[in-house]
Amino acid sequence: MGAGIVGLTAAYLLAKAGLSVFVLEGRRVGRQVTGRSTAKITTQHSLIYRHLIETFDLDTAKRYADANRLGMQQVQHWVDQLEIACDFEAKDAYAYSCDGSRVRDLEAEADAARRVGIGAEVLQSAPLPFKTAGALRFRHQAQFNPAQYLVGLARACASAGAQVFENTRVTNVKQADGWKLTAGMGALRVDHAVLATNLPIAGPVRFDKRTRPRSHIAMAFRIAPKAAIDGMFIGVDEPTHSLRMGRDQDGPLLVVLGRKFDTGQEGDVAKHFLELEAWTTQNFEVGGVGWRWVNEDYDTADRVPFAGGLPRAPGLYVATGFNAWGITNGTATGILIAEQILGRAPPWASVYDPTRKTPQGFNKGGDSQSLVHSLGDIEPGGGGVMSLGRGKIAVWKGNDGTPHAVSAACTHEGCTVTWNNADRTWDCPCHGSIFSTEGHVIHGPAVEPLPARKLPPNWLR
Ligand SMILES: Cc1cc2nc3c(=O)[nH]c(=O)nc-3n(C[C@H](O)[C@H](O)[C@H](O)COP(=O)(O)OP(=O)(O)OC[C@H]3O[C@@H](n4cnc5c(N)ncnc54)[C@H](O)[C@@H]3O)c2cc1C
Ligand code: FES
Repeated sequence: MGAGIVGLTAAYLLAKAGLSVFVLEGRRVGRQVTGRSTAKITTQHSLIYRHLIETFDLDTAKRYADANRLGMQQVQHWVDQLEIACDFEAKDAYAYSCDGSRVRDLEAEADAARRVGIGAEVLQSAPLPFKTAGALRFRHQAQFNPAQYLVGLARACASAGAQVFENTRVTNVKQADGWKLTAGMGALRVDHAVLATNLPIAGPVRFDKRTRPRSHIAMAFRIAPKAAIDGMFIGVDEPTHSLRMGRDQDGPLLVVLGRKFDTGQEGDVAKHFLELEAWTTQNFEVGGVGWRWVNEDYDTADRVPFAGGLPRAPGLYVATGFNAWGITNGTATGILIAEQILGRAPPWASVYDPTRKTPQGFNKGGDSQSLVHSLGDIEPGGGGVMSLGRGKIAVWKGNDGTPHAVSAACTHEGCTVTWNNADRTWDCPCHGSIFSTEGHVIHGPAVEPLPARKLPPNWLR
């Protein structure tokens, strides 16, 4: 389930191994978290190796590095071997700080990276057009267009014999002589079920409590080739900025990622776009904004994903909690799941142990940030949540002022949704489900839409 980087990596390996493989994708291939990612293919996950050595031990940090190195190599290998046209480019990765007091952290990370076998150097500044206090460089990393990569990988899956079904949202996963997956009017019985849905939608372990959804805003600005940057950059200061070049049919783009926020717990997402635009125009010679979007992923308390088979549910596999570093982690965990299904286990598998101990209360959830009293409080193009009878409704007004109402109770576990005024979506503050203005599921763990609601006629007068 899920045609993101995890699902398609596992599916391709299993189809090549001769298994009968079905990929059930709720939307279209490449349109979700992977497709909306900044897609740096790197083992430099901001500052991670010192954290892993201190939180776990050197061995765990080495296994994490090994898994992600393999993830990186696998992507590059498939891009070459399968001739996937996805703007793959080798680039150096830089973690930079503008704060002199953090240079020590960069040096400690360089030391930790070397201890796990990764070449790392500390520079006095990052090759960026604004002043930085220092940078940590990992050479020979890469970047690509993740949506094009997934489309190519899905094509390779089909050539290897897998059947890929788009617009097929799985609504029920049940243990029954193997696993029974239900989608719409259809059902499928399988020996092995892979929940590659970014956050698992079923199973005996509550990954929605063991992870926390976080969103980022992203923008892509038109930029002249002479003002382009060379490399992929992640700021280690808060609010973070992530930078790289990209392009579309109209030419080069500077892709900039801005601050993070808890999904569904921010009442004015649009204001962050204005901040990011101001920061970018202050620091770069850019033209207009080509693209802007929001993306979300799930954090874990120890910054390591959960992935693999679940001992209490034989034949069920998960991969989640990528902490916004799921291109290499997602590829590695896709490989891990395929290997486990084939009866093998990579030497680094235990780093992702999906049932390892994790602190209680990591995900505290939240409440709607969009409560209003009446329809008059909602501007055309805006949304708000109000009481109706014993429940709450989520009302969005089209640009012409026409209101459209759906239930405000998330179909996952009933939390009240928040209006995202940038993406024009209803976002759940508890476990990160995202719904369209019509209530359709864009991102799980919800599997059912928000039902439409009728507005009382006297409200419309
Ligand atoms: C802003 C941002 C920037 C990032 N940048 C980077 C980066 O530079 N480098 C990096 O390594 N990582 C990055 N990441 C993280 C990375 O993009 C993700 O961790 C990774 O793409 C997750 O892959 P996935 O396969 O789990 O999810 P997805 O790509 O979302 O795939 C899951 C699929 O499952 C489908 N699905 C969900 N529910 C169902 C259902 N019920 N039935 C059927 N299908 C279903 C979805 O539609 C989706 O297509 C970033 C993340 C964010 C938020
Ligand atoms: S995502 Fe869990 S209640 Fe909404």
